[in-house]
Amino acid sequence: MSESKVFLITGSATGLGRSVALKLAERGYSLSLVDFNEQAGQETLSLVLERGAQAVFIKADVSREEDVKNYVEQTVEAFGRIDYFVNNAGIMVPLRLLHEYELSEYDRVTGVNLKGAFLGLKYVIPVMLKNGGGRIVNTVSSNSFKPTAFNGLYSATKHGLAALTKSIGQDYQDLNIRAVGVAPNTMITNIAANAVTTMSEERFAKLAASTGPNIPATPEDIAEVVIFAATTGADMLNGTIVNCAGGEIFQ
Ligand SMILES: NC(=O)c1ccc[n+]([C@@H]2O[C@H](COP(=O)([O-])OP(=O)(O)OC[C@H]3O[C@@H](n4cnc5c(N)ncnc54)[C@H](O)[C@@H]3O)[C@@H](O)[C@H]2O)c1
Repeated sequence: MSESKVFLITGSATGLGRSVALKLAERGYSLSLVDFNEQAGQETLSLVLERGAQAVFIKADVSREEDVKNYVEQTVEAFGRIDYFVNNAGIMVPLRLLHEYELSEYDRVTGVNLKGAFLGLKYVIPVMLKNGGGRIVNTVSSNSFKPTAFNGLYSATKHGLAALTKSIGQDYQDLNIRAVGVAPNTMITNIAANAVTTMSEERFAKLAASTGPNIPATPEDIAEVVIFAATTGADMLNGTIVNCAGGEIFQ
């Protein structure tokens, strides 16, 4: 069983989750890597093992309760505890006006981004309580403050996850659980690849304008914020949403 502190990271196959995992591997943490993309997840696993981390990869669809129960159980089996939870898996669906979305798209995006995040909290928090506490980072978005154009459904999920973060910040203060929302704006990953390809040029221009003045981030930039929010910054940032838009201000 591992002596080092244990991070559980969902959505760790690519993008931000992978970047967080690689940095933590170099800092001596044990890692439980969760994703439904098995091939890329195994690649992340190889990369963190090369860096000397103790780690497991667990295939799971975060929107399925059985899979969530299983990734929590397998993490506890591997490491005996969960100190930090990066609740990060997320998707986007093709952007459009609200009435143009299908119910199936609503179910998909809320199923992963909100239900999936809730299920993670529902099963991870009891393990943390047993250990005397824990630290949670929920990956929210600048869409938790203000929707970008044509992004109403995704934005609803990220507003919802911000609310769950604030709620944990209030309700678990005496139980030594802390939660912080980290909110990237434009982060250079593949998440939006399928979301913008079908847009007209006119809509794309409106979307670009709606992101406001900001400095685009790499996943490595945001990973530093995630790690700070989970560790050194957790007490004072508890229950807040950290705006990582690089200059865009949301009131
Ligand atoms: N890229 C941006 O501009 C941006 C901005 C704000 C917030 N975010 C948020 O950052 C987080 C990470 O996204 P990213 O930008 O690194 O994109 P990404 O697509 O590289 O990473 C998302 C990861 O989640 C995994 N995933 C998706 N659905 C899943 C499911 N049902 N079960 C298990 N794993 C699943 C994917 O396989 C992938 O590894 C997401 O929550 C996203 O909403 C991204």
